[in-house]
Amino acid sequence: MSNKPKILVSRLLPDVVEQRIAGNYDAITNPDDNVLSARDILNQARGLDGLLVSATEKCDAAFISSLPDSIKIIATFSVGYDHIDLEAARNAGIVVTNTPDILTDATADIALLLMLGAARGAYWGEQMVRKQTWARWAPTHPLGIDITYATLGILGMGRIGQAVAERARAFKMNINYFKRQRLEADIENGANYFESLDEFLPTCQFLSLNCASTSQTRGLINRRTISKLPDGAVIINTARGDIVNDDDLIEALQSGKVAAAGLDVFNNEPNIDPRYRTLENVFLLPHLGSATPDTRIAMGMRALDNLDAFFNEQTPKDIVNL
Ligand code: DGY
Repeated sequence: MSNKPKILVSRLLPDVVEQRIAGNYDAITNPDDNVLSARDILNQARGLDGLLVSATEKCDAAFISSLPDSIKIIATFSVGYDHIDLEAARNAGIVVTNTPDILTDATADIALLLMLGAARGAYWGEQMVRKQTWARWAPTHPLGIDITYATLGILGMGRIGQAVAERARAFKMNINYFKRQRLEADIENGANYFESLDEFLPTCQFLSLNCASTSQTRGLINRRTISKLPDGAVIINTARGDIVNDDDLIEALQSGKVAAAGLDVFNNEPNIDPRYRTLENVFLLPHLGSATPDTRIAMGMRALDNLDAFFNEQTPKDIVNL
């Protein structure tokens, strides 16, 4: 009998990550990458020591309370951990870890792609070419929105927000940010701090959502907050779909209050609000923030570093529920 730690890996991971899992763990893997329900995981959980999940597996309080006592760690293959009830895990004596840092650049790159795509009409422009509705070049239409010299508001200036700011500086954007605590001057690097959301929002010609999904941020972008934005603002979301109230954003996109949106994350992925698909002024991506081979490998390795540390009786680097 193997004395390697027993884990369940909920999703198919990059080859080198799977190889490391096969070498170091007695693992139940998911080579066909089937969608596993909570029930599917619980049915296989007996005798396991840990779980390696991703953001697609909801680990709520009911799920956590049904896990066998032998499970002492949940490592998530994601920086976000809003799919895990941290308090329930803490109460059950389960350590939760995530994979920060390594997907910062890839996600910030997607934020810039969305910003340019939404502002300059990447969706409608591409449709014109593909559907042969591009009759001829014209001086007056169709036109997009300049990002150069515009004001970018970053809501949540953590690692990813800072990386978005770094890229936006290349476009000479004026950068404002809203965060609970002001950053050190060298990290702020010329960005203007706003302590009040209501004072921050009217400055945001572009608003990039880079905060975590928490009880304070869920539904934060709603009719009231959107009404504070300048007319014709552009909203970019690479954080989590539930920060946005879809009814309110869609209404604002229809009225033109919000000129355009670039969205990589949605409520109820992948079954997004179908009205987004009908809007010309949105540029939509299927949660691609971390989707490059190197980033996904690094995420898998980081999740395994945390598991290895835990099972070697060391403190994992990325515990999020201390
Ligand atoms: C993350 O790591 O949180 C990404 O959104 C992928 O889930």
